[in-house]
Amino acid sequence: MTTDTAVATVHPAWLPDAALAPLRALPSAVLLSGPCAAAARADLGPDVPVADADLVVAAAGGAGGVADLGVDGGLDIPAGGHVLVRTPDRTVVLGADDASALRGLYALARETAVAALTGSTPAPGVTTHAPEQPLRMLDHWDNVAVHPVMGQVERGYSGGSIFYADGEVRTDLTRVAAYARLLAATGVEAVAINNVNVHAREARLLTDGLPDVARIADVLRGYGIRTFLSVSFASPRLLGGLPTADPADPDVAAWWAAAVDRVYAAVPDFGGFVVKADSEGQPGPFAYGRSHADGANLLAGALRPHGGTVLWRAFVYDHRQDWRDRRTDRARAAHDHFAPLDGEFAENVVLQVKHGPMDFQVREPVSPVLAAMPRTRVAVEVQITQEYTGQQRHLCYLAPSWSSVLRFPLDGTRPVASLVARGGVVGVSSVGDDPFWTGHPLAQANLYAFGRLAWDSTLSPADVLDEWIALTFAGAPSAALARVRAALHTMMDGSWARYEGYTAPLGVGFMVTPGTHGGPSVDGYEYSPWGTYHFADRDGIGVDRTVATGTGYAGQYPEPWASVYEDVATCPDELLLFFHHVPYGHVLASGTTVVQHIYDSRADAVAALDGVEAAWESLADLVGTVVPADLDTRVRERLAEQRRSAVEWRDQVRTYFWRKSGVVDASGREVF
Ligand code: GCU
Repeated sequence: MTTDTAVATVHPAWLPDAALAPLRALPSAVLLSGPCAAAARADLGPDVPVADADLVVAAAGGAGGVADLGVDGGLDIPAGGHVLVRTPDRTVVLGADDASALRGLYALARETAVAALTGSTPAPGVTTHAPEQPLRMLDHWDNVAVHPVMGQVERGYSGGSIFYADGEVRTDLTRVAAYARLLAATGVEAVAINNVNVHAREARLLTDGLPDVARIADVLRGYGIRTFLSVSFASPRLLGGLPTADPADPDVAAWWAAAVDRVYAAVPDFGGFVVKADSEGQPGPFAYGRSHADGANLLAGALRPHGGTVLWRAFVYDHRQDWRDRRTDRARAAHDHFAPLDGEFAENVVLQVKHGPMDFQVREPVSPVLAAMPRTRVAVEVQITQEYTGQQRHLCYLAPSWSSVLRFPLDGTRPVASLVARGGVVGVSSVGDDPFWTGHPLAQANLYAFGRLAWDSTLSPADVLDEWIALTFAGAPSAALARVRAALHTMMDGSWARYEGYTAPLGVGFMVTPGTHGGPSVDGYEYSPWGTYHFADRDGIGVDRTVATGTGYAGQYPEPWASVYEDVATCPDELLLFFHHVPYGHVLASGTTVVQHIYDSRADAVAALDGVEAAWESLADLVGTVVPADLDTRVRERLAEQRRSAVEWRDQVRTYFWRKSGVVDASGREVF
């Protein structure tokens, strides 16, 4: 069943007509000649002569006419960025190139909407906007063919894929175009269109699927977005009929070179490959006794003549661990595998590293790999799809989490955002063919925030939320808009902390239902091969990852963090159980004991949902006008499910630790 017919009912997310209306009302001239010209024109009115235009959109060195405005000369336009020039006569958006100009146009729409929200007026003058990261990319874990276990979209909580249906690339890519437009407005500039777990059907995108890949790339290009493919390392065997995929075999290298030539013949601006190798069953160079540098460089060699990039994932660990073996620590794996290879990767390889050492848990320390490879281009990967953060049924605004990662001074001085600036920022997309794009309508804010923080990690999560509100509810009367703003901040600013509050405590992670990863199961992974243990016994809980007595993981950090995490006295509370096994009576920096913290914070976080629900309820009179009725219905349904699930989390976790420890909850609240 294709859902192409649902397009007409798709929610406009952060680009409703009203967000562009103030710009569309201006006589405008679009002086672009590249692939994004049509998109810019479609969002503005018909072109008028430049001299008559109040709004001009142009690219440096693009189609003529800008020089006549007297704004071009002397302006320093950063690569991939844009300059906004506001004079008393007109506003000029000048992009470094065609795609940057389109992004600049949406930036102007955003500034206009934010001004309406905050009651401010943008000052005349010149402002320069440069992306902090050159690579701002989304990975889609979409399967072409529905996977028997993982479905159409692996870890997808928003329906089917916008790219694929019925085992094929969709014929109607209207929805992809709408998505690309939304992404352009956030600053995202690259998309990998298929799952990192490359199954048989998806592997063929690289060969006989190329005409379809080219169709998708054509649509994305119209919004300044480059297309990447996830490929199987075994492709020479699977697709080429070779006896091996060994990186040292010249036939293998020749196969890749020819395959890549064909890709660029179909998609001249193709971005490159994403590769998950030797990870969770995916093929890789280990089978041939080769290193990950050998593997990555093989593909890099094929891509180099065309300017393409390999995003090689560092998510490599033993997923067949024996839970009895307390010396093997999954957290160590990426650093153990990759840090020794620093300096061996080709220049067009980017090592894509998950933000934490485990797997997108609600709280993890920042991965030490991000600071361990100064001679390697490194990118940080976050998960927008809420696999471990509420699956788009719980409200969990993730910008505060990503912001804390990007700003973290991992090498003691420089923030992660600058450590990865030669690589980039990658997010696993949360989008599907759901009418609200993201299942939970308010989870749209996460997708929006991802692009904005990848562009500028210094933005505050609350300001980014304001932007999203201003655009999404653009055109609402100012009093109503102010109420929506207040309600959504009440609901969302602290939602990540709340989610953490009722789920796994103090950085220990997991405790989720195996397989689905939704809902509580404190011991769900405790005796499994996945390496995700909490080691709770009658006396205490946590994983000893110290150098002195544990797995040594803390020693993978540079100073000051190695010492901070090593010492139970200086390890921050929120990561205590990630680094230390402590007795239940251990007193936290907050002054409470570990077990009492577990009891209290689960209950407090659920109690705080009253305020979340009340805030949404306070907007009831706006439903049908400012708040679309179907959106209200969906949000209410999700809030009800969030409460049900949060209560389950609270009761299971609290009860588990009461039964395990026998320590009475001093608050006297109910356990079972
Ligand atoms: C998690 C997730 C998998 C995914 C993997 C990855 O383990 O559960 O579905 O394939 O991450 O990032 O590759």
